[in-house]
Amino acid sequence: MTTKDKKKDHDPSLDHSLLVREQLIQHINTRDGWISFEEFIDFVMYKPGLGYYSAGAEKIGHSGDFTTAPEISKLFGMALANQITPILDHYQNPSIIEIGAGTGKLAFDIMTQLNDYQVNFDRYYILELSADLKQRQQSLLSHLPAKTLNKIVWLDSIPMDSIDGVIIANEVIDALPFTRFKTQNGQVYELGISFEDNQLIEQPRLADEMLSNTVASIAKEIGMRFHDGYTSEIRINFGNWFRTIESMLSSGSMFFVDYGYSRQEYYDEERTNGSMICHYKNVAHENPLSNLGIQDISASVDFSLLADVAFQQNIEVGFFTSQSDFLINAEILGVIESVIDEGLKMRLTQEVKQLLLPNQMGEIFKCMLLNKNINPDNFDGIKDLRHTL
Ligand SMILES: C[S@@+](CC[C@H](N)C(=O)[O-])C[C@H]1O[C@@H](n2cnc3c(N)ncnc32)[C@H](O)[C@@H]1O
Repeated sequence: MTTKDKKKDHDPSLDHSLLVREQLIQHINTRDGWISFEEFIDFVMYKPGLGYYSAGAEKIGHSGDFTTAPEISKLFGMALANQITPILDHYQNPSIIEIGAGTGKLAFDIMTQLNDYQVNFDRYYILELSADLKQRQQSLLSHLPAKTLNKIVWLDSIPMDSIDGVIIANEVIDALPFTRFKTQNGQVYELGISFEDNQLIEQPRLADEMLSNTVASIAKEIGMRFHDGYTSEIRINFGNWFRTIESMLSSGSMFFVDYGYSRQEYYDEERTNGSMICHYKNVAHENPLSNLGIQDISASVDFSLLADVAFQQNIEVGFFTSQSDFLINAEILGVIESVIDEGLKMRLTQEVKQLLLPNQMGEIFKCMLLNKNINPDNFDGIKDLRHTL
């Protein structure tokens, strides 16, 4: 191989990853040689200019690291638009807020469908943490008609005036930082990252009172004794995040779609190593210390926690259901039936299988509806799993 060929094959993202590693090690040194897992995720995923979501990796889609429902099919956004329409119709000047809009594909499909059905909405707000993804969203959404494009507002901070309408978040909670813990000899340890013998390693530390008590109360609630070595995740600060999000809504509904379980299932005896998962170039694996800053790291959502923090804010859980039931209730199959072109129909049928089949996204992904100062009645037919929370 010539030097020219070597240069051609060189992947610049690997240089970026080395830089992230160097800076991470420096950061660990400034923190007396140990940082918590939550701090590690915050650094490698969100540190401005360095982290996975802050830097330029492709991330989402077939040429990125992972694929989401809106990237698989426009039917996902069309179905979601069907579900939010009656809620928007309830208000005179409704708006939509999308949290973590990825490439902007879901926003594009929702607004296209709302336009086609002449559903009125005032603004489509996007709250996006990643400057890089914000640019991609702006580029994709520039293809919308000018009158729709003018309704889109990217939020730099939480708006002063709350809205009436809908908040949507697809695969956002799974991307929020989480704490990892392990139980040993009846004690709870918090997992963190250290740098020893020239290597980044996972290292446990005796948990503080707050984490120990939280793990103990989960065990008590679900009637389980975490056995030695049991490792899992927990989003200790989730309530703070949720309160910020819900405060943007004066009246309306919130749709959270994500992969996850009820608490009982989340901390199942058999799930001995938690649900943390890493994605690099569309391959899933379990090593968060590889591909630093250029791979996705996430963990499933404890939907009982989402229901709990909502309840604390007097927000009602409207339903909790599987993605497949949610989309079927949203008439996703009717959209395919109405397509005349046979080629397109076949393509959409393949896509919808990925969204609905139980061994694909249909059952692992769930949808939770939360209602604030509203009681929508158009979800009666949905198979409700609230009793499992
Ligand atoms: C897994 S991606 C999902 C993207 C998109 N919703 C989709 O379904 O394709 C997570 C998204 O949430 C964004 N994000 C992560 N944490 C966030 C936060 N605290 N506030 C707003 N957006 C956040 C990421 O930048 C990214 O756009």
